[in-house]
Amino acid sequence: MSDCIALVPAAGHGSRFGAATPKQYLPLAGRPLLAHTLDVLCRNAAISRVAVVISPGDEWFDSFEWPQPKLEVLRVGGPSRAESVAGGLAALAADADDWVLVHDAARCCLSDGALQRLIDSLRDDAVGGLLAQPVADTVKRVNPQGRVAATVPRDGLWLAQTPQMFRAGLLADALRDAANPAITDEASAIELLGHAPRLVEGEAQNFKVTWPQDLALASAILAARKG
Ligand code: CTP
Ligand code: MG
Repeated sequence: MSDCIALVPAAGHGSRFGAATPKQYLPLAGRPLLAHTLDVLCRNAAISRVAVVISPGDEWFDSFEWPQPKLEVLRVGGPSRAESVAGGLAALAADADDWVLVHDAARCCLSDGALQRLIDSLRDDAVGGLLAQPVADTVKRVNPQGRVAATVPRDGLWLAQTPQMFRAGLLADALRDAANPAITDEASAIELLGHAPRLVEGEAQNFKVTWPQDLALASAILAARKG
């Protein structure tokens, strides 16, 4: 059976968060945020390897303890998320048939259940796919003056999350031009090849820590799970 390999891009600067330290290394429930992200991937029995992609100039990673036995560190991050993923994928040297689950370092509240649902739903899929959530709120398009230009029908609109799970060979083909700004996630790269990734229902808790106020929410979610 093909392996499942997790690939975690963690080479960003967290510019929207605005801290001196990249958000993946900020303390959350007593550990760096990234440690929580890696925990859920490392403890899934279907995942054989967990590779984290950090920047070649990263000054933080080595100052923490990373006890997870499946963990590999790839110092090949690039200027964009897609380029970090492409660099990591090349360094993985996976078999073309292996499944690669790309998961944002900043999504530290992914649950075991959602991760398992993704793997179970896609293991026999011809293309692969991603966790995603149907849009719940009414969607507005805004004009440059900060006023509503239009209300966009939300029917059929979903928000893409991660992990995004594709075969290593197909993903490498899709990310050949990783610097293309149209590639904002793995699924968009696969779509550019003409494939239709499958959407698997995610969960609101699997949000991406982006702004400073997000840390308190992540902390509350992790604390509620422990309790
Ligand atoms: N990422 C990466 N390499 C980059 C940019 C982003 O590996 N050149 C990673 C981030 O570390 C993060 C994930 O991709 O785990 C999702 O990106 P995002 O949430 O946008 O993180 P940042 O790019 O760090 O944040 P910002 O966009 O606010 O600067
Ligand atoms: Mg970013």
